[in-house]
Amino acid sequence: MAKQFEDNFQRKFYYLRLSITDVCNFRCTYCLPDGYHPEQGKKPSFLTLDEIRRVTSAFADCGTTKVRITGGEPSLRRDFTDIIHTVASQPGIEKVATTTNGYRMEKQVQQWRQAGLTNINVSVDSLDPRQFHLITGENLFHQVMRGIDAAFEAGYEQIKVNTVLLKGMNAEQLPQFLAWIKDRRIQLRFIELMQTGEMDELFSKRHVSGVSIRNALIANGWLLKPRGLNDGPAQVFYHSDYLGEIGLIMPYEKGFCTTCNRLRVSARGKLHLCLFGDHGVELRDLLASDHQHDALIARIRGGLTEKSVSHYLQDGVTGMTPHLASIGG
Ligand code: GTP
Ligand code: 5AD
Ligand code: SF4
Repeated sequence: MAKQFEDNFQRKFYYLRLSITDVCNFRCTYCLPDGYHPEQGKKPSFLTLDEIRRVTSAFADCGTTKVRITGGEPSLRRDFTDIIHTVASQPGIEKVATTTNGYRMEKQVQQWRQAGLTNINVSVDSLDPRQFHLITGENLFHQVMRGIDAAFEAGYEQIKVNTVLLKGMNAEQLPQFLAWIKDRRIQLRFIELMQTGEMDELFSKRHVSGVSIRNALIANGWLLKPRGLNDGPAQVFYHSDYLGEIGLIMPYEKGFCTTCNRLRVSARGKLHLCLFGDHGVELRDLLASDHQHDALIARIRGGLTEKSVSHYLQDGVTGMTPHLASIGG
């Protein structure tokens, strides 16, 4: 193995978030409220299967053990199952995860699992079908629920669910969410709304901190779980009366970035050192052939020296990330 990817702050990178498309068929109020629109006049050209193999191989060679395939909605790609298989086949990759809106899960989850997908995160912003429709722009609550059932049937032991906290829409419904996970092996993660470039008004109206949820959990006997090397940023709580767990993703909290262990590659082949506030390092020209493997690693390593100690969300520096679908969340 080549030397582990590391930045100037001694953070090591075990976790690659690899976006394979910007396209999404949902219209979440906090992400793509007007739906997906390609850049004007440009036909999107997303990473090919070979490019995906090469970029994954470079990361795996430098100590990455987990790849999360993101989008947009990754399952909209016709070759999604082949992509899973390709990523899972790279020596050193132990976990292949995806984050999906659940749209194709009911029909396809079995083939994803057979191809090597080890972990699934699915977005469910409300347990009320009407509210779900309001938030996501799609009347597909029941289809997504059937998708989650299908994932359990396919053999996944635990499914993670992402719920973006929205004041007045779901943030007041902790009891309903708790009842839902009582007898289900679901890790339900409340994500604080992050202010992206295109969203001033929604943010001031709907942003709410996860602190009150954390306090309520602790007061009711929930305990904090230790965090693994290639885990995401959630603080995870468990309780002996519940099969499910609760996670909190609180990017506005001080110290959030000290445990950063992940890098991002966009669907167009740019390395992003952070979800917010960086322009990205072009990798695509080095993805054209297997011969450029070492040069690719060198460019990633060079880029890493530019990684800043923290995101600048608190300072309102969000303009470069228009919405999370553009960079894979
Ligand atoms: P696991 O790998 O299963 O632990 O999940 P994860 O939380 O890393 O992945 P997921 O795609 O489900 O992400 C959930 C939310 O966490 C998304 O909204 C992400 O944008 C957010 N998130 C993940 N990593 C970061 C990060 O480095 N910085 C910020 N600000 N948010 C992040
Ligand atoms: N703030 C917080 N979470 C967001 N997501 C998308 N946009 C935002 C935002 N502005 C979440 C989705 C999904 C994950 C990939 O990112 O809900 O679960
Ligand atoms: Fe699509 Fe996910 Fe963005 Fe919703 S949050 S519009 S499901 S990419």
